[in-house]
Amino acid sequence: MTINVVTISGSLRKSSYNTALMHALPGLAPDSMRLTEAPTFREMPLYNADVQASGFPQSVIAFADAIRSADGIVIVSPEYNWTIPGGLKNALDWVSRLENQPFKEKPVAIQSATGGPLGGARMQYHLRMALTFLNAFVLGTPEVFVGLAQTKFDGQSLELKDEATKKAVTDQLGAFAKFVARVKA
Ligand SMILES: Cc1cc2nc3c(=O)[nH]c(=O)nc-3n(C[C@H](O)[C@H](O)[C@H](O)COP(=O)(O)O)c2cc1C
Repeated sequence: MTINVVTISGSLRKSSYNTALMHALPGLAPDSMRLTEAPTFREMPLYNADVQASGFPQSVIAFADAIRSADGIVIVSPEYNWTIPGGLKNALDWVSRLENQPFKEKPVAIQSATGGPLGGARMQYHLRMALTFLNAFVLGTPEVFVGLAQTKFDGQSLELKDEATKKAVTDQLGAFAKFVARVKA
């Protein structure tokens, strides 16, 4: 059985470590998992109920459609000021207002990379909280926290080179494949 997973990076930065980690996932995933990247949330306006009243933006519809069509989601995000980056939170806020809310009963795994040593733990707990309100099914463990990201990726190519991180990601994606299969069954 093929498991279709959509990946979301919480960073819009060109040389983002989180986007680099997201790019590493296909090489570390089990054979049964097919990964595709979600459309960007870059174009979404700031959430405003007045804008919503005149129709959901196309960027929101496209993002939600990608989530709905997936068997599972992997969110790879930085931590900003101990919490969820505004752009990612804005995207969650937009899709949360849709009928047929796309995260409902959707398996989600979370990973984070930061420059500091804690690897985004505080952001992950806030993201878990928001996703739980959206009735997503968030994988418990294994967790993936990539601290001191500048030491784990090649400075030029941004290729993930840290073996311990590769193993942590491989372990999580393996567990996530089983989790998704269980939810689908
Ligand atoms: C607005 C802002 C807030 C930040 N807050 C935190 C933080 O709370 N914890 C942390 O570990 N790093 C924090 N950082 C540093 C990020 O971990 C670092 O910039 C990281 O590279 C961002 O992820 P990216 O490379 O995927 O863009 C912050 C960075 C920015 C720009």
